[in-house]
Amino acid sequence: RETLEITRNRVKKTVSETSLIVKAIQKNDFLSRLDDEQTAMMVDLLAVSNFKPGDEVITEGSEGDSMYIVAAGELIVTQAGQDLRTLTSGDVFGELAILYNCKRTATVKAKTVVRLWCMERQTYRTIITNKSKKKREQL
Ligand code: CMP
Repeated sequence: RETLEITRNRVKKTVSETSLIVKAIQKNDFLSRLDDEQTAMMVDLLAVSNFKPGDEVITEGSEGDSMYIVAAGELIVTQAGQDLRTLTSGDVFGELAILYNCKRTATVKAKTVVRLWCMERQTYRTIITNKSKKKREQL
């Protein structure tokens, strides 16, 4: 398995959690293409996942099956051992392998206790496919 998660399950989101997720979606180049209905589905279907300091959430070069939104805590992105960026609440990561079907482009490690919203590739595909099916039915 790719991750060392402690817990992972779909949960109801509070108003402030929903607001953080929607803002994160809107400021991400890739996810901002979702329309309001798809955004609402994404909010609904995101699962929660918790990590301890030092846990490697994503390993550079591995196969990717999930993307993440930081709910709380700090993570560090590294590439070939070089620090690239610190991620905090409202940041999206792990979307590249899902979008481009490529291997993970960087390693992402928890610096603190971290709470993440996560979505598997298959769930993301369902949101996109569901929409194009509806569009076709309208023609
Ligand atoms: P992915 O390649 O799926 O997994 C590693 C993630 O790290 C990647 O998606 C991006 O979300 C993130 N990432 C990769 N390169 C950078 C960078 N230069 N700055 C910030 N984040 C990055």
